[in-house]
Amino acid sequence: MGKATQDLLNEHEAILHVFSILDKMLISSRNDEERDLNFADELVNFLSIFADKCHHGKEEGILFKELEDRGVPNQGGPIGVMLQEHVLGRQLIALMREALQGADMETFKIHAVEYRDLLRQHIQKENVVLFRLADQIISDEKQAELFERFEEHEENVIGHGVHEQLHAQIHAWETLYQL
Ligand SMILES: [Fe+2]
Ligand SMILES: [Fe+2]
Repeated sequence: MGKATQDLLNEHEAILHVFSILDKMLISSRNDEERDLNFADELVNFLSIFADKCHHGKEEGILFKELEDRGVPNQGGPIGVMLQEHVLGRQLIALMREALQGADMETFKIHAVEYRDLLRQHIQKENVVLFRLADQIISDEKQAELFERFEEHEENVIGHGVHEQLHAQIHAWETLYQL
């Protein structure tokens, strides 16, 4: 795997791991509304910053553009499908946030499950189809260059140290839900 695609793959792993914490929360038998509302709030923040702005931003602004330049079709092709799913994901994040503003945990859970299911299959497609294709048509040197641009993007969009904070937050959730 190239340096850029490996970075995105690692972020997929982090997102999937967070979904396994969400699953624990959904099946938790201990009714603790305050704990769950807090987690839900932090989760929406994580999905918006890490999954959407940081991760989808790297894909849309950098990797997908490079693939398009190399002849991979956008509209009617795999990139177009990925972009549509990013848009759908953003809409679901907005719906989750809206539900939480009214402390409506049941509606939040419905949209959180929709988002989880959307992203799980989205990530699978990227890992198995798009990233493999990227590794075939983008050289190692170019991948290293794209990775540098990913680092810049991360710095600009989420700022220094936020990535680490988000990972620390994941560890705190693990403790909270005994994962
Ligand atoms: Fe994506
Ligand atoms: Fe992705």
